[in-house]
Amino acid sequence: MKEDIKPADGRLGVLVVGVGGAVATTMITGTLAARKGLAKPIGSITQLATIRMENNDEKLIKDVVPLANLGDIVFGGWDIFPENAYDAAMYAEVLKEKDLNLVKDELQTIKPMAAAFDHNWAKRLNGTNIKKVASRWDMVEQLRQDIRDFKVANKCERIVVLWAASTEIYIPLSEEHKSLAALEKAMKENNTKAVSPSMCYAYAALAEGAPFVMGAPNLCVDTPAMWEFSKKVNVPIAGKDFKSGQTLMKTVLAPMFKTRMLGVNGWFSTNILGNRDGEVLDDPDNFKTKEVSKLSVIDNIFEPEKYPDLYGNVYHKVRINYYPPRKDNKEAWDNIDIFGWMGYPMEIKVNFLCRDSILAAPIALDLVLFCDLAKRAGMCGIQTWLSFFCKSPMHDFEHQPVHDLFTQWRMVKETIRTMVGEKSPSYLD
Ligand SMILES: NC(=O)c1ccc[n+]([C@@H]2O[C@H](COP(=O)([O-])OP(=O)(O)OC[C@H]3O[C@@H](n4cnc5c(N)ncnc54)[C@H](O)[C@@H]3O)[C@@H](O)[C@H]2O)c1
Repeated sequence: MKEDIKPADGRLGVLVVGVGGAVATTMITGTLAARKGLAKPIGSITQLATIRMENNDEKLIKDVVPLANLGDIVFGGWDIFPENAYDAAMYAEVLKEKDLNLVKDELQTIKPMAAAFDHNWAKRLNGTNIKKVASRWDMVEQLRQDIRDFKVANKCERIVVLWAASTEIYIPLSEEHKSLAALEKAMKENNTKAVSPSMCYAYAALAEGAPFVMGAPNLCVDTPAMWEFSKKVNVPIAGKDFKSGQTLMKTVLAPMFKTRMLGVNGWFSTNILGNRDGEVLDDPDNFKTKEVSKLSVIDNIFEPEKYPDLYGNVYHKVRINYYPPRKDNKEAWDNIDIFGWMGYPMEIKVNFLCRDSILAAPIALDLVLFCDLAKRAGMCGIQTWLSFFCKSPMHDFEHQPVHDLFTQWRMVKETIRTMVGEKSPSYLD
């Protein structure tokens, strides 16, 4: 019920891990410009999308639920590079200088706090703005202090922590991640193999009552230990891996093949990408984390066990190639081998010349605003209704992830209607 959602009074601190990165600086610049009326928040569900209410009235989502106002957001965060958000955005070369200059003064005031970083988790990165820590537990303590200090200094009512930092190396789920007690023990014993820096950020956020959003494919909060912790402290977690480009296309095309009962033999996806993200992903251990995230989509949508004649033998391959000249302007190719009536083959080629951070920025903002809303609505644990925004939606062992974009969209709308005590309209919305 709407009365049960606390109002979005006061300032919302948005602390971004990787605040000097391409996605972070693009999101921050666009938000600052939008709130001054200097840019439109294109691509943002929270700012532009409408839903139908029970009586068929169509309303902006932000008029249905009490979302934080863009004007009430204060940005901050951590990065291993010390440059302020303006200089970092200039380096990222996503936005033009003239667009950055619209909010130059505000960007220059955003200076990264020292990062919780371990070189073994992102070997291609070398920065200097790094905390000296005695252990993983010390990392957590220092991050908690950062969050508290930021909240006081900026007079924030609430905080959300967003991971928009580099992808960490792949690690499988191990004993240390299976319960909160085991995770805390590993942190205190300084088990640097099982506890990643991102887990320390997430733990610190949750311990401070701040929702945590994972924008990369890191294991991080996708563990029973973190699910347990988020429920214990009554704080939402969301993720993982922003669904921005190629996977977005996949989760639209695959449901179309399935709805039409067309078969698929193979799906080859490749990309060229030249930003720092691409450079980090050029390391096989970091790429593995991304690959696992990208590969899970198709099988889930096709359900080969139900439709073996159509999807029993799909060859799925994903490649990411680091190619510096392209910077943030990724080019993605998909070749899809499909078959129809009497098994006759057809091919579909998709060539998406996208801008990675332009697509990811509104997703990051929406995840932050929806998680802040969820917290005020008393929700905690994995926010599966936010799967819409994620390449690899988190789910516990009892549930299946949902990848189909249209089913995911329905989950967003249903959750929002439920929050305000409304049912679905009687016809398709
Ligand atoms: N751009 C997209 O479309 C997209 C889509 C899905 C996921 N992602 C993920 O989002 C993340 C950010 O992407 P990007 O293009 O902005 O990358 P980026 O390399 O431009 O930015 C990442 C930033 O994180 C910083 N960083 C790394 N480790 C850190 C740590 N431990 N603490 C603090 N800062 C740290 C780096 O210094 C860098 O400034 C990546 O993990 C990427 O895989 C991006």
